[in-house]
Amino acid sequence: MALSAGPTRPSFLPGAPRQVISHRPSRKTAASGTSLGAEHLPSALAGVLLARLSCRFVQGRPGASASNASRSKMCRLAAGSTDWQHVREDFPALQQEVKPGIPLVYLDNAATSQKPRAVLEELSRFYGQDNSNVHRGMHTLSMRSTEAFENARKTVAHFVNAPDEHEIIFTRNATEAINLVAKTWAEANIGSGDEIVLTVMEHHSNLVPWQLLAEKTGAKLKFGRLRSNGTLDVEHFESLITEKTKLVSLCHVSNVLGCVNPIKRVAEKCHEHQAKLLVDACQSVPHMPVDVQTLGADWLVASSHKMCGPTGIGFLWGRAELLRASPPFLGGGEMIDQVKLEGSTFSDIPHRFEAGTPAFAEAVALGRACEYLEKLTMTAITEREHRLSKKLWDRVAALPGVTIYGPSPEEDPERASLVCFNVEGCHANDLATIVDQDRGIAMRSGHHCTQPLHTELGIVASARLSAYFYNTEEEIDLAVDAVEAAIELIRSGEGEGEVLDPAMAALLDV
Ligand SMILES: Cc1ncc(COP(=O)(O)O)c(C=O)c1O
Repeated sequence: MALSAGPTRPSFLPGAPRQVISHRPSRKTAASGTSLGAEHLPSALAGVLLARLSCRFVQGRPGASASNASRSKMCRLAAGSTDWQHVREDFPALQQEVKPGIPLVYLDNAATSQKPRAVLEELSRFYGQDNSNVHRGMHTLSMRSTEAFENARKTVAHFVNAPDEHEIIFTRNATEAINLVAKTWAEANIGSGDEIVLTVMEHHSNLVPWQLLAEKTGAKLKFGRLRSNGTLDVEHFESLITEKTKLVSLCHVSNVLGCVNPIKRVAEKCHEHQAKLLVDACQSVPHMPVDVQTLGADWLVASSHKMCGPTGIGFLWGRAELLRASPPFLGGGEMIDQVKLEGSTFSDIPHRFEAGTPAFAEAVALGRACEYLEKLTMTAITEREHRLSKKLWDRVAALPGVTIYGPSPEEDPERASLVCFNVEGCHANDLATIVDQDRGIAMRSGHHCTQPLHTELGIVASARLSAYFYNTEEEIDLAVDAVEAAIELIRSGEGEGEVLDPAMAALLDV
């Protein structure tokens, strides 16, 4: 899991040998690093360095004068017939300069993806032509809008191979989808002494709802641990699933480690013990073919905004019999059958779980995003991302004093095209701030909503570069070159606060 360029800084001369050994950063170096700031803020040192950068790098990064057109020419054609350069041109946000002469390099795709023109146009077309509340009117526009909304449900169902489109519930996002299961099926079926099995790598979205449930019901939470290479210790995880287990909930792909968890195998174990299985597929559905029937889970959740769709919409897939046996989530319009002052009866699925006016325009645009991805084919997207993943790993692993969290592409060839890392002596927030300001690289830093995982790794923050199919190998080079330059800058900047202009120092609180 942990790769480092070693205790002695390797030469950057071409062909110079690099020592690559296992290295686990101490809390002090990787977690605190040089940062003086809170974990979400760039440190004061980054501020100092950036003040200097504004002079040093005002001309932009090397080669930054290249126009967007020439940048896009750098995109290569992938194996197979997909013209990825052409595909990239579908994304208007990727064509911008974040500062004059500094084109955007967007590598924060695990947080949210950019949107293709087809999706943006569908949103605009829908609002401009079909906009009308769904399931409520007899007029033409309402019929059109209802039809588009329900067609989107069919498209999403097809996208994850759900046997029945009524098993797709539209929610605000994946987080709400997990909460829906926690507040309905789980509250009705989990009690004191029952066990819920999770892993230490879960996003807070797949942890906090179960903590709340455990507090309310007296259920016990158990956690699968990691192997030393940053993958799930599957044997240990399976040993946690017993007759007491009511629910197992885990991510398909970790948003930090990038590992792919063996859902099918876990599903078999769960069902041997009559435990139910929820899969957080936020980081898999956008990147690989996901078939809910093959996986064998009971529920699966995903967010539209990570898969080329709009924000404000996500979905829950659940087995029809489980959804039908669950009490409602929120009460209100849309989800009812008959309402009397004394009480109400509720609609069948999916509307039983979609109280109030749904995000119907966003659902329609999500349907368009699924069609867009299907046209590229998820297999081609996965192949492309495996290449990007290998490139990303190889480049980041060669950084001086780096620790990468998660399995290498050799250890997990299916791993996601994201790399989370720390560099000795450099706070992740400092690196992210500098590469953004200096070279227009959108790199994430922080705990990525996985504080317990970061604690497990002995750190409080990490930097993350995450690619999507529209990224290029050249962008990965630009990003890692920028990180390398930032490391040098930070290291050369030690003690520079002393010579800082006093007014600036006061502003930066150093
Ligand atoms: C693995 C994982 N699960 C859940 C979520 C939560 O997604 P959302 O905030 O869209 O509900 C994320 C978002 O980063 C994620 O990466």
